[in-house]
Amino acid sequence: MPPASHSPAGPADRAIADEDDSVTSHNRANDYDSFAEAYSAENEGNLFNAYYERPATLALAGDVAGRRILDAGCGSGPLFAALRDRGALVTGIDASTGMLELARRRLGDDADLQVTDLQDPLPFPDAAFDDVIASLVLHYFEDWTAPLAELRRVLRPGGRLIASVNHPIHGYALSGQDAGYFATFQWSQEHTFSGQSAVLTYWHRPLHAMTDAFTAAGFRVAAISEPPAAPGARELFPDILADQPAFLCFLFFVLEAV
Ligand SMILES: C[S@@+](CC[C@H](N)C(=O)[O-])C[C@H]1O[C@@H](n2cnc3c(N)ncnc32)[C@H](O)[C@@H]1O
Repeated sequence: MPPASHSPAGPADRAIADEDDSVTSHNRANDYDSFAEAYSAENEGNLFNAYYERPATLALAGDVAGRRILDAGCGSGPLFAALRDRGALVTGIDASTGMLELARRRLGDDADLQVTDLQDPLPFPDAAFDDVIASLVLHYFEDWTAPLAELRRVLRPGGRLIASVNHPIHGYALSGQDAGYFATFQWSQEHTFSGQSAVLTYWHRPLHAMTDAFTAAGFRVAAISEPPAAPGARELFPDILADQPAFLCFLFFVLEAV
């Protein structure tokens, strides 16, 4: 596990206590429009996304040639691009118009991108996709019931939901809260993305609450993964990975639609 100061977004990050008035309001938390460029630039080459989350998700997805994939919470589209390069037919949705503008710039006019909130009904018919990728987005939701029901609905039976979230043990430690690991609670973290400060607010939930939610929505847990960082990461980020190939950061699931 990296030191607590090494969060999934970078070494300058810190948890914010509810009474912390250095952030005047949490209303702008998760306002990706306001830090889209900075987040996207940071995500492009850092350890946590470029050398950990993205390669791990692509490895879990395996051969995607010809598969219809929904990239749910696609951000500026780095996974969309990688999946498309591997022959998948990709649709990307995100709640942030700013992130989708960057995705459009990356992916071109032909890319199927739609502004959609994952907490609302999705604008797709039943069984429209072979796979859904939900990369680092579910941890923003207090209640997973409606989003997971919709993701299950748009998957064909036997299709896969591949999801990554903040690792609950690491997130609990970073949160600095004393509600207990088994509680479900909201916590905030101030990040620095490419020099720009931003507040992200997450919902912590214990592992069993995640697997219970997946099962209740009609998924079978096919794999829970805590992968090592990608090859080359230790050489590029020796201050974090000096003596450890794996570290607590994100947790990955492969869920099969039953
Ligand atoms: C941590 S970023 C990950 C982006 C992308 N999956 C990646 O790995 O590069 C989280 C993304 O989730 C999106 N998001 C947050 N809440 C959302 C919601 N309710 N519906 C759809 N997208 C949401 C944000 O706009 C942001 O682009």
